[in-house]
Amino acid sequence: MKGKGAIILAAGQGKRMKSKKAKVLHELAGKPLVSYPLELVRRARLQTVCVIVGHQAEAVNKILAGRPVTAVLQDPPLGTGHAVLQAEKALKNFNGTLLILNADTPLLRDETLGRLWASHRKKNADLSLLTTRLAEPHGYGRIIRNQDGTISRVVEEKDASSAERTIREVNTGVYLIEKSFLFASLKKIRPDNRQKEYYLTDVIHIAAREGKRLIGVEADPEEVIGINSRADLAAAERILRLQINDHWMSKGVTLIDPERIQIDSDVKIARDAILHPGVTLEGKTIIGEGSVIYASRIKDSRIGKGVIIKDHCVIEEAGIESGGTVGPYAHLRPGTLIRKGAKVGNFVEIKKSTLGKGSKANHLSYIGDAEIGKEVNIGAGTITCNYDGHKKEKTIIEDKVFIGSDTQMVAPVRIGARSLIAAGSTITEDVPSDTLALSRTRQENKVGWVKKKSTRPKGK
Ligand code: UD1
Ligand code: CA
Repeated sequence: MKGKGAIILAAGQGKRMKSKKAKVLHELAGKPLVSYPLELVRRARLQTVCVIVGHQAEAVNKILAGRPVTAVLQDPPLGTGHAVLQAEKALKNFNGTLLILNADTPLLRDETLGRLWASHRKKNADLSLLTTRLAEPHGYGRIIRNQDGTISRVVEEKDASSAERTIREVNTGVYLIEKSFLFASLKKIRPDNRQKEYYLTDVIHIAAREGKRLIGVEADPEEVIGINSRADLAAAERILRLQINDHWMSKGVTLIDPERIQIDSDVKIARDAILHPGVTLEGKTIIGEGSVIYASRIKDSRIGKGVIIKDHCVIEEAGIESGGTVGPYAHLRPGTLIRKGAKVGNFVEIKKSTLGKGSKANHLSYIGDAEIGKEVNIGAGTITCNYDGHKKEKTIIEDKVFIGSDTQMVAPVRIGARSLIAAGSTITEDVPSDTLALSRTRQENKVGWVKKKSTRPKGK
């Protein structure tokens, strides 16, 4: 059996993005563009994978870290042909067929790649080229065919004559090439074109000239969009989002108006969850069975079974156990854990805190660095004063405590089980169990004071 390897081209700057950031680092459905071809080749279980890096190589290498790939530096980037040539040394011990693909083509499907491999093998080809037909071929290399229909070469948009520009069959930038032929021909190409670049596509012309077995395989235009501009990125995002949404519907998730729901690539959702319009699920969020989510943004969080998240919540790196209720207008920040059946209501911000089983914080509170036990009631307007300007301190509230409204707890402080804090208190010292704590000035009533004041003439 011949070996199978891949070269992913990710060294370009992506000038047409008009960005400070390298093109392959721009995100699609929550993940950088370059991660899509990386996952595609991982699923294809190839023997060896080289990634050509150059522009912002350090940041790109971070994404490669921990993956079974070899990063190869191309500096400076002199074109796609030059990029591939850089991998020669790294592939010294490899023999067989190489898959070459651009890192800016994220929607390519496994089946299509499978079809390309199968036809390459069956026809015993030296070079197979994935092509597509576009209604709007602008920006792509056009496929020039001979009169007998065989491929002759690829001409880039910038070098094409006006007649050639009318050709709708284009190069997708996905190729299978026999290694020995690839590197031998790369050494023959010259940057004699409008862009003064070494074009990988010149290898196609060489193959045709040298009578190599050169075949084209056609793909669906939607999956071979190359991301060159922000508009391309938005177009790909739209296609991918609808695919992701269709996938979750096929798994038994209800999406009410899928066009208005955004789910990142790595999110997981259990069946019978219901997502309302305006929901955004980001990063590695997990949604449990039967949970109902209204217009809210949830990032890298674990939502258990039967949870209800009402409108306009922001939830980041938090956990909500089964039966919990959150919102509307709640902000759960990193390190928040809402235990079984607990409730978080309007205008409540929680950071790095646990709200115990069945506990409630229903209105207008800030809870930071707190450990709250079971069946605790946090009254409206409760604040944990966790920061003294230098360091953060903890508030511990044991089971079945009742915190009256408008209470401040100055950390570090501990409230013992079953105790009751009177409304309007500022708690600066620990409260033992089963205790009533109150710290507020006694009320004074000046009877008749208002009447006396209002009988005085105005302005005096
Ligand atoms: C390329 C093809 C074009 C094809 C299109 C498909 C060439 C000459 N043209 O054009 O025929 O229709 O893809 O999408 O190959 N890169 C490097 N080093 C470089 C230059 C580019 O690694 O020196 C990388 C880029 O990061 C990118 C990929 O190669 O991921 C393609 O480069 P890009 O400039 O986008 O090529 P296109 O003009 O789209
Ligand atoms: Ca491109």
